[in-house]
Amino acid sequence: MKLIIATHNAHKVEEFRRILSPLGIEVTTAQITEPEETGKTFAENAYIKAKAASDETGLPAVADDSGLSVDALGGEPGVYSARYAEVGKRRATVLAKLADVPEERRGAHFTSAICCVFPDGTAINAEGHTYGKIAHENRGENGFGYDPIFVSEEGAAKGKTFAEATAQEKDSVSHRGRALREFAAKLEEYLRNKE
Ligand code: IMP
Repeated sequence: MKLIIATHNAHKVEEFRRILSPLGIEVTTAQITEPEETGKTFAENAYIKAKAASDETGLPAVADDSGLSVDALGGEPGVYSARYAEVGKRRATVLAKLADVPEERRGAHFTSAICCVFPDGTAINAEGHTYGKIAHENRGENGFGYDPIFVSEEGAAKGKTFAEATAQEKDSVSHRGRALREFAAKLEEYLRNKE
């Protein structure tokens, strides 16, 4: 199965390929116009992006909308994760807002909503979460976005920031890993029932 991935974020494309190709799903990029993310939830924004890409290409398209929710900030930056502060200052903004927040109140989670839209309008949705804490400083070189300040509390990545974890460690517990594995199972079921 081949799907268009509705994103201009090269890191997301890499993670999609890493997680989906062993499951038999190929994703390809296309020149697509990025729609305005007017949704109030990750799931709404994922649908907006996948639908726009499917309409534009006439092909099945899959999108991820994701973000970091920090407990002590009332869930911010949440759906505004990509637009929170200026480029290059997002992690520093979160660290500064949490400067005086003690260890036990630094909880945070990532969410990834996946939506795949087919040309006939069928949509398949999946969502994944992963839990951890906000670090006191950037740690690690891998990954992207908020990875250097997110200390995982789960599985193989426990105690490491997602930027210190290997790709395999991150994927095994990450919001996107979980959402994409759920999506792959739903897609397989949908295709089997269509036969
Ligand atoms: P989106 O492209 O509107 O979904 O924006 C998602 C934003 O959330 C990204 O630009 C990152 O800043 C952040 N984000 C989402 N997933 C991750 C992740 O796996 N690691 C680090 N940051 C992430």
